[in-house]
Amino acid sequence: MAEHHPARTSKDLLEQPLVVTLDGPAGSGKTTVARMVADGLGIAYLDSGAMFRAFALRLGAQSWTWSEEVLRERLAGLEFTLRGQGGQAALFLNGEPLGEEIRREEVGMWASNLAKVGMVREILKQAQQRLGAGTSLVAEGRDMGSVVFPRARYKFFLDAAPEERARRRWLQLKEMGVEEDLDALIANLRHRDDQDRNRSIAPLKPADDAVIIDTAGLTPGEVGGVVVEKVLRDSG
Ligand code: DC
Repeated sequence: MAEHHPARTSKDLLEQPLVVTLDGPAGSGKTTVARMVADGLGIAYLDSGAMFRAFALRLGAQSWTWSEEVLRERLAGLEFTLRGQGGQAALFLNGEPLGEEIRREEVGMWASNLAKVGMVREILKQAQQRLGAGTSLVAEGRDMGSVVFPRARYKFFLDAAPEERARRRWLQLKEMGVEEDLDALIANLRHRDDQDRNRSIAPLKPADDAVIIDTAGLTPGEVGGVVVEKVLRDSG
């Protein structure tokens, strides 16, 4: 039976937890878009990749080779909270804000390796679902629509060619004052794509009911506009 939803505004979206998922490969523009969508809808932005990065930074290189027992012990008692609304919502780990160090290229690779470990994914999935149960979210990541929030009402998957994504990443790093070799970034990105798409648990792939958006040639503002418009229109 078709559900009837009275017309809603972005303000009304705050009244019951609502999850909009935005998945896609590294450099697909989803972070900028997710922040804009969160601002547009007036709900919190959840950067699930930052959670993998924070764990990876905390545990360090090669942690993905440790036994489950050691990993579980090292991750016990670590708790994420989300403070603020819109694109400025920020994650805290045991009360400490996640620092800029998690954005290092190397930490991204560690996170991708750690993300292959089922137990780590399970811990983070539960943390993400807990956050989504209490507050409306734009959840950004790789498996937000397919695994973590399968019942989310609005699911989007952003994509673009690897060269285009690497170029964006290069510009982003340059703005942060970091000079990286573009070819090395393309190679890293392809490697991370392969790893993220081919892991056995929760691989990067669009949920069956996700709207796929090719972001090549579109500004983040344009992509964000498409997403916000669709959510507001369909919830009306
Ligand atoms: O989105 P990002 O580049 O900050 O994510 C870093 C890594 O974390 C990514 O290569 C794979 C992993 N990740 C994941 O497996 N699942 C998510 N929902 C988010 C990130």
